[in-house]
Amino acid sequence: MTEKDSWWEGAVIYQLIPRSYADGNSDGIGDLQGLIGRLSYLRWLGVDALWLTPIYPSPLEDGGYDITDFENIHPELGDLSAFHRLLKAAHDQGIKIIIDLVLNHTSVLHPWFQRARWAPKGSTEREVYVWSDDPNKYAEAPVLFRNFESSNWEWDDVAEQYYLHRFLRHQPDLNYENPWVQDQMLGVVDFWLERGVDGFRLDAVPFLFEAEDSRCEGLPETHGFLRQVRARVEESGRDVLLLAEAIQPVKEAAPYLADDELHGAFNFVLTAHLFAAVASGNCKQLKLCLQEAQTVVPGCRWALPLRNHDELWLGDGHLVPEGVIQTIRAGLHQGHGHWLNWGINRRLAPLLNGDPRANRLLHALLYSLPGMPCLYYGDELGMGDWPGLRDRDPNRTPMAWTPARNGGFSSAPDPLLVLPAITAPGYDYRVVNVEVQKQLPGSLLNWHRRMLTCRRLLPALRRGDFEVLESRHASVMVYLRSVESMTVLVAANLSGAGASLSLDLSRWNGARTREVLWGCEYPPANEDWFVYLPSYGFSWWLIGEVDGSDPLNADLHN
Ligand code: GLC
Ligand code: CA
Repeated sequence: MTEKDSWWEGAVIYQLIPRSYADGNSDGIGDLQGLIGRLSYLRWLGVDALWLTPIYPSPLEDGGYDITDFENIHPELGDLSAFHRLLKAAHDQGIKIIIDLVLNHTSVLHPWFQRARWAPKGSTEREVYVWSDDPNKYAEAPVLFRNFESSNWEWDDVAEQYYLHRFLRHQPDLNYENPWVQDQMLGVVDFWLERGVDGFRLDAVPFLFEAEDSRCEGLPETHGFLRQVRARVEESGRDVLLLAEAIQPVKEAAPYLADDELHGAFNFVLTAHLFAAVASGNCKQLKLCLQEAQTVVPGCRWALPLRNHDELWLGDGHLVPEGVIQTIRAGLHQGHGHWLNWGINRRLAPLLNGDPRANRLLHALLYSLPGMPCLYYGDELGMGDWPGLRDRDPNRTPMAWTPARNGGFSSAPDPLLVLPAITAPGYDYRVVNVEVQKQLPGSLLNWHRRMLTCRRLLPALRRGDFEVLESRHASVMVYLRSVESMTVLVAANLSGAGASLSLDLSRWNGARTREVLWGCEYPPANEDWFVYLPSYGFSWWLIGEVDGSDPLNADLHN
């Protein structure tokens, strides 16, 4: 299967938490049936694929990333036949389904772990997890969830040993040195391939193997196992996306994208630089970061998130330099008590102080940069969060569908809801919801839909080459996306002040230029082409169109 043929190249991925999206049986918990009922909305919006956070049976100590059965569905969400119906209904609407694949750990309640604790030391059953008599083993591996844990080891009274957990103590790490573990987890991959999924988001991929004197991230053996996962996908003969969650600098995330390994990886460094650029009004570092990502792995294989179900991960200086972290902390609105683990625990809209211009600007970049833009459910509305809820729950509250009770998420009595619907000032579901925004032509939701429509009409944005142009303005980012048949010029002003500048478009001297979103004609290209961008303004232009070949659908500009 060549990369060019793959469905996921440049695809727009919409991430949602099934428990928080739509409740189909009125018990207060979102489920697969509810999601099926909302597929027509997602098609209307214009996304290509859905990424579902874990749907497996789980005691939910970590939002379902603590799994007790890898080959089943959490009963509150439905069952395997509901999953089959979802897959079929999504495919009928032209939407792909990506599921979370958690390779690194299980729940402590997984039967494997319960068996392991009682099994004799050194037995195959015990060795399904990573045990030690010494809690100082692998001392260089950082504690990731530092608000919740002070060590990567937890004492088990039954086993009379410590077990390793890179995340919560409820999530023991599987022991990939044990061939039985590898076989089982490859079996899980086969199971879901046979069910017909279109992709896997591979959770926490760097941590599969451990070694002394290292951070225990991205070891050669870990890459070896991921290549086996890829081989299983190839054997299936299907076009299935393998997307890595490796919160690492670009150079360290790149090895996961080797030709025989995974197809895509999130670019979390870019996420941080996008926020830093808005926070400072300066895009110099952003440009460098984009250029580096394209030099290291050219094309459209980076997935581009703004926010997700976790805190905005900034790290300890390893992911991005301390200065970038400080810029973000100083320049973005955060409110009280926002810092969690190594990042900021807020949704996009509150981070941007509710300013829809900044929401539009950041998404206009995402939708036009090379890669797979990732839209987090609710961000298309500018949905808010609920600070004060435990852990990352502030970012995981129910989707706001209508002004009706509970935002139309569920008809269950309020106390039964999975998490409270948002009534915070400025973000109340009676105002910020799908139904209302659909009816307002100038709403954020209609803007997202329009942008996604334009993106679909312009293959240059989906798979075109990428070139940064000199902008001569510190706040303005300018770049080109081009395929043989078209060139799209993008300019974005990352600052809160207006910007006027002139661009050297002598390469296309005399060619027609037309703004994409509203179809407005600009003066022909020349070496001193004048542009004005209001605060947080941006534009996409088509350059050098051949007369008569109109790539933009006529009704787009009605
Ligand atoms: C990933 C997930 C996060 C989860 C962790 C452990 O980082 O995004 O939500 O807590 O892995 O599975
Ligand atoms: Ca339900």
